[in-house]
Amino acid sequence: MTESAALEVATTFAELNLAPEIQAAVESLGYVHPTPIQQQAIPLVLAGRDLLAQAQTGTGKTAAFALPLLDRIKPHANTSTSPARHPVRALVLAPTRELAIQVYDSVVEYAKNLPLRCTCVYGGVGMQEQEAALRAGVEVLVATPGRLLDHAGNKLVQLNQVQFLVLDEADRMLDMGFLPDLKRILALLPKQRQSLLFSATFSDEIVRLAQNFLQNPMRVEVARRNTAAETVEQVAHKVPEADKLEALLRVVKVRDLAQALVFTRTKISADKLGRRLLKRGLEAAIIHGDKTQVDRLQALEGFKQGTIKLLVATDIAARGLDIVELPAVINYELPYSPEDYVHRIGRTGRAGASGLAVSLVSADEDKLLAGIERFIKRELNIVPLPSPASPPRPAVSPEETESGPAATLPRRRRAEPVCALLMPPPQSQLAGGQ
Ligand SMILES: Nc1ncnc2c1ncn2[C@@H]1O[C@H](COP(=O)(O)OP(=O)(O)OP(=O)(O)O)[C@@H](O)[C@H]1O
Ligand SMILES: [Mg+2]
Repeated sequence: MTESAALEVATTFAELNLAPEIQAAVESLGYVHPTPIQQQAIPLVLAGRDLLAQAQTGTGKTAAFALPLLDRIKPHANTSTSPARHPVRALVLAPTRELAIQVYDSVVEYAKNLPLRCTCVYGGVGMQEQEAALRAGVEVLVATPGRLLDHAGNKLVQLNQVQFLVLDEADRMLDMGFLPDLKRILALLPKQRQSLLFSATFSDEIVRLAQNFLQNPMRVEVARRNTAAETVEQVAHKVPEADKLEALLRVVKVRDLAQALVFTRTKISADKLGRRLLKRGLEAAIIHGDKTQVDRLQALEGFKQGTIKLLVATDIAARGLDIVELPAVINYELPYSPEDYVHRIGRTGRAGASGLAVSLVSADEDKLLAGIERFIKRELNIVPLPSPASPPRPAVSPEETESGPAATLPRRRRAEPVCALLMPPPQSQLAGGQ
């Protein structure tokens, strides 16, 4: 970056020229400085550009797309009760229900001083309340693809006035699993629109594919590609498969971890591990795609509130979830795809906090480990399991990462209960307190 360009980078939210209502909302959340991805992406979105934006986990990508998007649709904000006055103008797609709810919660916070309607539709729950919200009209719609298509198929939502499309976790949304649904949704949108693709990881293949959905896009890359946040200390322990449970318990005990998110590769092994932990008297819960939505949300909420110590999860929980001050992620089994490793460990060490990522690697996972190391372009620190006699050094402290992109973020406290998670599907609501 040239010196003059560097001088132009906004270091305060005021310099980003967002509407006063949005700035006030950001201030009330305690954000003082925009993060690097916010500094770079916000002016480009305000200027109308399509974006392919990459920045490390936990560095504020949600606000990087949501704030300028709200600013741009603000001229359409109105308090009319007529649904026709509230067409969908912004569509935000996310790969999991929990992430869609979280993004929706953030958008509601950012839009709280504006009379813009926002709602969230996702599967696994009844259709009725979502239908009522859609019928009433909504400017910002956050959705998982399958449920959105159900509503579109039932003619409950028109997407022909969408000006903004956001794909959060865009590389996941563009991979084989989601691409067919995504193509169907794209066919319902106007060709003339602004599209914003955000993720912490992008493979070359996905970047090529993404070009088909974007018009003259700008590439924004904060930090080296596909890297985890620098605030996460990463270690690996070589452990025979049969000893993994004891190894997990040892790591939790010796490291004195108040909580950990524990990843397995399959639903079956998540169930098995969860049952074994419960048998051992630990406060554990399980989250994966075969659980009911109520069970999924209860497990996540209990974990966020701290009543659950170990949340055993499949990669359904790997992307985007923001659990304040989560101290550690443990890979009980390594993921098949190296991207998932980056996203999994990014559930800790967020917003400037420090975090620990421990991988338990059995002999038959050596190939997966090598793949991860190639992807993140560094070798993992392989160390013996910690012993009570020689506990390991604590995880990297935030002061040690002052040059990192998260250095601009203030320390956070665990939030009040995220009531929205346990409530029925959100109703269409007027974010301006009406
Ligand atoms: N400018 C800021 N100042 C302080 N905190 C911020 C700022 N921007 C975002 N945050 C907070 O940082 C946390 C992480 O943000 P967010 O979930 O958007 O990260 P992300 O980059 O999308 O991560 P991931 O790749 O895991 O999805 C959130 O709790 C958010 O409220
Ligand atoms: Mg995110």
